[in-house]
Amino acid sequence: MRKVYRGRDIEVSFDLDICIHVGECLRGEPNVFKLTRRPWALPDAGEAEAVARVIELCPSGALQYRRLDGKPQEKRAETTTVTPIRDGPLLVAGTIEVTREDGTVETLPRATLCRCGMSEHKPFCDNMHLKTGFRAPGVKYKIHLSPVRLELDKPMAKVDDPRGRS
Ligand code: SF4
Ligand code: FES
Repeated sequence: MRKVYRGRDIEVSFDLDICIHVGECLRGEPNVFKLTRRPWALPDAGEAEAVARVIELCPSGALQYRRLDGKPQEKRAETTTVTPIRDGPLLVAGTIEVTREDGTVETLPRATLCRCGMSEHKPFCDNMHLKTGFRAPGVKYKIHLSPVRLELDKPMAKVDDPRGRS
């Protein structure tokens, strides 16, 4: 559930369900984001520009902002990139459309998706990889583009692999 914290120049929103608690926000703007205070996010406790910069570093997309001072909103990357984080999730940046069980659709500029297979909140990472000691390199993937699969409920057999078709 996304909560909104409205300031004078910038509005901050936060969805605890997808936060992976790496603390970029707490380190980057400690006066704005403080876990020991309620509300924990006070957009006016920092310069709007600095708050926006820190929010763009939030890997999970849990934090987002909306400028209220007429300055540009977050620019979404034109291409979507997927970067494996060492021993952790896939960091996706671009335009990520998430459809929730109740049918609501949210578009995220950044997301951290589970690649260890153990998250209880898939497709998002919920830090289970830390508990299970998941190990995987942080090197970039070579991604093969393929047509959308028609039968999502079945595992893909080798013969169905779209890369084999011409
Ligand atoms: S994922 Fe985002 S909101 Fe959560 S701690 Fe990291 S920077 Fe803050
Ligand atoms: S990669 Fe984080 S829970 Fe799977």
